[in-house]
Amino acid sequence: MSVGYNLLMRDGFGRTIDYLRVSVTDKCNLRCIYCMPPEGVEWMPHSEVLTLEETQKICAAAASVGVSKIKVTGGEPLVRRGLSTFIRSVKGTRGIESVTLTTNAVLLGDFLDELVDAGIDAVNISLDTLNADVFRYITGSDGFERVLRSMGMARAAGLAVKVNCVPIRGVNEADIVPLAELARHEQMAMRFIELMPLGLGANLVPIPHAETFERLERALGVLRPFDGRLGNGPASYYSVEGFAGKIGFISAVSHSFCGGCNRLRLTGTGLLKPCLASDAGVDLKAIVRGGGDILAIAGALRAAIMLKPMRHDFYRNDGGKRHKKKNMFRIGG
Ligand code: GTP
Ligand code: 5AD
Ligand code: SF4
Repeated sequence: MSVGYNLLMRDGFGRTIDYLRVSVTDKCNLRCIYCMPPEGVEWMPHSEVLTLEETQKICAAAASVGVSKIKVTGGEPLVRRGLSTFIRSVKGTRGIESVTLTTNAVLLGDFLDELVDAGIDAVNISLDTLNADVFRYITGSDGFERVLRSMGMARAAGLAVKVNCVPIRGVNEADIVPLAELARHEQMAMRFIELMPLGLGANLVPIPHAETFERLERALGVLRPFDGRLGNGPASYYSVEGFAGKIGFISAVSHSFCGGCNRLRLTGTGLLKPCLASDAGVDLKAIVRGGGDILAIAGALRAAIMLKPMRHDFYRNDGGKRHKKKNMFRIGG
């Protein structure tokens, strides 16, 4: 088998797979109501979690089968010690073009300089409200001011910033328009993610894409589809008259974007998941710890790509019950 860096890896449905989401920890310093219970969870035992060197080796193998974009996720990735060093080595890996981070941003300000120095390309910040009390209700934390400060620092450092909000009925409906207003004067993307019925998210009531869209048009004016690319994810973007930034929608449930899916996911314990919603997975930790080299890992990655289902099945068969057992903090969003 040859190792190639310019090849396009296609799955069984002809989709090009060039993006790997890497969860570096299941730990988090917040307890978002749609993700982690207030009492916390039992963390994965240390010995089960891949070292960052093992994770880097998997990223190198992924690059050899055509992955060029790495998204670092968690839990909260910034609680993992040594993250900037890891990012530097992944960024320096042959074939990797971009390394980006999705974070709750509570710790982002503390690590910003070293992340920028390590070569991070962009950050996505989770922020569901602009009200400190609602923030405390959603996340169980007083970190609101720190998040705002980190966001300002990231922008000032010249990083591309996208903000993620998950609108939830009865929780942060009043925040939709004020959050969108962040994009009026700043060249950032404000994105609204449809709540997915995974883990604790299954117990809350989502606000459908169409409703969020309508609320925004009523308050801000027409949302015009934007054709350019902003990142590598499934969001659709819109321009608004007078806005420096863009408004984005990740409508995982009502508008399936699976037809254009470009990604694989690696959990902190080394399970390679071909799809967020699928139970399938390939145990890369066993290969890495069994002495497998880059070629062996690359072979397993190719096999996993072929396991990608055509689309997610959030509500099929059992009305979604089995997805309640899935945890976004383990899969990495
Ligand atoms: P960029 O645009 O490159 O920054 O990537 P992204 O939008 O995928 O990044 P981010 O980590 O901010 O993800 C935002 C949300 O999109 C998360 O809630 C993810 O769970 C969701 N998401 C990302 N990829 C998928 C996917 O393949 N399927 C589904 N259903 N949701 C996804
Ligand atoms: N549905 C939609 N988005 C979710 N996130 C976490 N859990 C869910 C869910 N059930 C989002 C976070 C973060 C991103 C990585 O995933 O808000 O922005
Ligand atoms: Fe932590 Fe993200 Fe889950 Fe919130 S959604 S508890 S920030 S992993």
